[in-house]
Amino acid sequence: MSEAIFTDWSADTARRWASEPLRLKHRLHTDPLFSMDTLAELIDSYPRQHYSLVQVGTPGQRRLWREGEIGKLSGARVIESIANGRMWLNLRNVSAVDKRFRALLDQLFGEIAERVPGFSAFSSTMGILISSPKAEVYYHMDLPGQSLWQIHGKKRVYVYPAEPPFRRDEDLERIALYQLEIDIPFEPSYDRYAQVFEIEGGEMLHWPLNAPHRVENLDCLNVSMTTEYWTEPIRRSQMINLANGILRHKLGVTPRSRSIEGPGFWAKAALQAGVKRAGLLKKARKTLRPIEFELDTERIGEIRDIAPVAR
Ligand SMILES: [Fe+2]
Repeated sequence: MSEAIFTDWSADTARRWASEPLRLKHRLHTDPLFSMDTLAELIDSYPRQHYSLVQVGTPGQRRLWREGEIGKLSGARVIESIANGRMWLNLRNVSAVDKRFRALLDQLFGEIAERVPGFSAFSSTMGILISSPKAEVYYHMDLPGQSLWQIHGKKRVYVYPAEPPFRRDEDLERIALYQLEIDIPFEPSYDRYAQVFEIEGGEMLHWPLNAPHRVENLDCLNVSMTTEYWTEPIRRSQMINLANGILRHKLGVTPRSRSIEGPGFWAKAALQAGVKRAGLLKKARKTLRPIEFELDTERIGEIRDIAPVAR
């Protein structure tokens, strides 16, 4: 059995889990699985369909989000390129691609299940995010349970209350219907209500379900890991997001409840299942962004535009 992943878990942690933003310590920044050499090798053979490479703007600039691909660079050069550019590489679902990460993920959720009474995740995934100095992830919220694990570098994470006006039902419903995580209203005045964490290698954050957040890298290369999980209450809450979204955005009815139990819940469960089965959501979902650039092989850190390719 490997050494515990969480290194400063206390009795109090279990009580606070998922009910408030939490910063905890872990040992993954010293695990050989996350050394730069291992990460470079991982990128070398990473399946194209499982990664996203995104160019982002500099702080204060117009919002920018373009997708590209690695091109001909080796994994080590890709990391160097990100260290010198303004982008992030998401090795999505690394736990499905590489079984060493699946084992790590299973251990991690095993530790949480042992320590948080009643916690039971029936599915979990993990991604590795390698991102440039000063890169940003804009204000958004996620539908599954989420944690952010810092491995190398430093970032500043703003976590907002999981209640209106920060987290609004209609935004969650739109995300569930159209999968547009990034496009929710943000006001700079919200920052006064945020909890702000500066995290470095060996620290992780977990927050209440759907709590909005945004991230700013400090002036250094960042390697982070994200974990997502589904429990039965989270699954039901997602069914409500979809059903209420169909009521509000498709049928013009304002939903009055987010209950995940009782006859109202089961009627909505049937409604969203029927719509899904009929394939009516596929058309509503936004088409994937085209691939518009690749990493420049000569000027490390620069990108080269290519003729847009649809995916
Ligand atoms: Fe997120």
